[in-house]
Amino acid sequence: MRSREAYIRALPKAELHLHIEGTLEPELAVRLARKHGVALPYADVEQLRAAYAFTDLQSFLDVYYALADVLRDADDFYELALSYLQRARDEGIVHVEIFFDPQTHTARGIPFGTVVEGLHRALGEAQRRFAMTHRLIACFLRDQSAAEAMRTLAEVLEYRDVIAAVGLDSAEVGHPPSKFAEVFAHARRHGLLTVAHAGEEGPPEYIREALDLLAVQRIDHGVRCEEDPELVRRLAREQIALTVCPLSNVKLGVFARIEQHNLKRLLEAGLRVTVNSDDPAYFGGYLLENYLAVERALGLSSAQLATLARNSIAGSFLDAAAKQRWLAAIDDCANAEARRAGA
Ligand code: HPA
Ligand code: ZN
Repeated sequence: MRSREAYIRALPKAELHLHIEGTLEPELAVRLARKHGVALPYADVEQLRAAYAFTDLQSFLDVYYALADVLRDADDFYELALSYLQRARDEGIVHVEIFFDPQTHTARGIPFGTVVEGLHRALGEAQRRFAMTHRLIACFLRDQSAAEAMRTLAEVLEYRDVIAAVGLDSAEVGHPPSKFAEVFAHARRHGLLTVAHAGEEGPPEYIREALDLLAVQRIDHGVRCEEDPELVRRLAREQIALTVCPLSNVKLGVFARIEQHNLKRLLEAGLRVTVNSDDPAYFGGYLLENYLAVERALGLSSAQLATLARNSIAGSFLDAAAKQRWLAAIDDCANAEARRAGA
């Protein structure tokens, strides 16, 4: 009998919530630290892994920003991204929309162009070798000022041809979307698409602000929408994609246990829920592991797994023709699975 894993792998999927800095595996971090003579506050890979016992978003961000210091030249960003893209291809991901945090690098004196050059080289290679399509999304650090974000936007606009959208990440509570209304308006005037993390640790009100004040196309995380039934109805009505990250949510204490995750309830309420890996090197699994974790813990049907894959394509920034092709391929895959189960 064909396994659930084989079925999930076979479904064509898009990953829409992936911080490329969050794919930095301990082994690569240690190797790059040696390459550049950077002293890490951890003696070896073992100690580093031991530091991954997070209690909340901030405890994770502290380690995540410290380790990003090993990323120095374009080859580092290329190697980081290509490792992720190879893995994504092996898991049946056909399209990726990747976040990066420009300020984490420019604040250390790494030129914006160095980061983009390395990422762009890897994405181009994945397109040629794996026929994998992509969009690049530059995120503003919301715990920095709006003025800093505006300065970063000016750099984003210099690379307008390779950056599709802007987003908002880092420490959420106390840094509502409203703080960045002007920055996002400016980005939209230049034709950039917009997304924002909201309702991960922050309240449902932040989700409303992201929709109403930032005019985002989708919400990253968004799981706290459930505390506001009217908002849940709106998200379903408007088919706003939520880029949910199950293993991340458990690692950072948004849900105490995976069995308590609300993904299935939101899916059954008709929301455009997608599954994503967020920062897989830190949270214990890439996309396939996230699908398997919710499938096992929440008992998702084959049809619901196909819906999650469909949502990832529908919620992506692919054009209508590409979406139609992938949606048809998902239908074929789901139908073949149904026949197999019935045989
Ligand atoms: N939330 C906020 N900021 C982040 C995250 C996240 O899940 N991952 C990387 N930066
Ligand atoms: Zn995230």
